[in-house]
Amino acid sequence: MTKITIAIDGFSSCGKSTLAKALASKLGYAYVDSGAMYRCVTLFALRKGVIKDHSFQETEVVKLLNEINLSFHFNPNTKSSETFLNGENVEKEIRQMVVSENVSKVSAIHDVRVKMIAIQRELGKNKGIVMDGRDIGTNVFPFAELKLFMTADTDIRTQRRFDEYSSKGQHISFSDVKLNLIHRDHEDTHRAENPLIQATDAIVLDNSELTREQQLEFVVKLISDLTLTTD
Ligand code: DC
Repeated sequence: MTKITIAIDGFSSCGKSTLAKALASKLGYAYVDSGAMYRCVTLFALRKGVIKDHSFQETEVVKLLNEINLSFHFNPNTKSSETFLNGENVEKEIRQMVVSENVSKVSAIHDVRVKMIAIQRELGKNKGIVMDGRDIGTNVFPFAELKLFMTADTDIRTQRRFDEYSSKGQHISFSDVKLNLIHRDHEDTHRAENPLIQATDAIVLDNSELTREQQLEFVVKLISDLTLTTD
């Protein structure tokens, strides 16, 4: 069957990566979490002391880019792709609240986007990939055969992220998680470069009331309709 490119964009914490991983596993495709890349840059800048008290000089972050090497490796135990920053598995660390609080501003820096997008396009050059993010269907892969735009009710998204933090032993209040989501959505949709917008040819998937299985079923049906017409 012809391999396609699947671009999944949408708001923070609306289940993009869960669906993307399930799809990649079902189709035997690679999965790339583009948000993890921006999180790695943010983590590196925090570690280097370039981000302090939520503020930084763009030029200082840009200077670090040459020291950053990113890769993804499949972990057969977790059956999931994990993110490596300069050879170190940072999958857990990049999900910390301090990274979430700074990542939107870091991802708005022009040079950061240029570098991340080049890596993303290289990873997807042979198709057979599911990539999730904010600008995948609009900018990274504008010719993706399938584009999804995911959304869900804000309180439901907050609960999901809150549960994720709690399960990892990070105790953050529901209201702080919600504020972070709202703030990031605002920053991501209002930035000058590649803001989060729905691609005109994207299919909207509101998963507020859908189980994981129902979402997967919905998308698998879309893909089979699509491949029937292209094969
Ligand atoms: O998907 P995520 O929440 O892990 O993404 C973290 C941040 O990275 C998000 O707030 C915006 C940014 N991002 C982006 O600008 N472009 C992408 N393609 C993916 C993420």
